[in-house]
Amino acid sequence: MADVYRLGFVGAGNMAESIARGIANSGVLPPSTIRTAHRRPERRTVFESFGVRILETNQQVVDDSHIVILSVKPQVVKEVLLELRPFFSDEKVLVSIAAGIKLKDLQVCCLILYPLGGIPK
Ligand SMILES: NC(=O)c1ccc[n+]([C@@H]2O[C@H](COP(=O)([O-])OP(=O)(O)OC[C@H]3O[C@@H](n4cnc5c(N)ncnc54)[C@H](OP(=O)(O)O)[C@@H]3O)[C@@H](O)[C@H]2O)c1
Repeated sequence: MADVYRLGFVGAGNMAESIARGIANSGVLPPSTIRTAHRRPERRTVFESFGVRILETNQQVVDDSHIVILSVKPQVVKEVLLELRPFFSDEKVLVSIAAGIKLKDLQVCCLILYPLGGIPK
């Protein structure tokens, strides 16, 4: 798995940092397989300090990742998804951690697959 999957974070804030550090520290994936982008240099430096690859744009993060974790604040989720919609494909998995965002809101860019038995919408 470590040789195959690349994980991208759109939104390099506190939650993304905690999750990325957890993944890297636990050895689930090497930090070199994790990528993100951020407009502020200090956030880029934080992620670089534990081996995450920094890209220039959200689009590049999506392009270069198999699994994308959407970790921006809920109020910017829609804007970010509309921007990134053209760059998602059937092969990519989107995971949203944004509080209060419904599955139907994520459908602007993704086909939602429901687990057997269903989950609350
Ligand atoms: N904190 C928690 O305990 C917690 C728990 C569960 C779920 N969540 C959810 O996790 C998400 C992230 O929370 P957080 O606490 O990590 O917030 P955060 O620290 O503010 O992280 C969000 C990051 O997204 C960046 N950002 C803003 N607009 C962007 C854009 N267009 N493209 C890319 N990045 C952009 C922000 O940059 P700037 O700072 O420069 O604006 C910030 O670094 C939220 O949706 C929240 O509901 C949080």
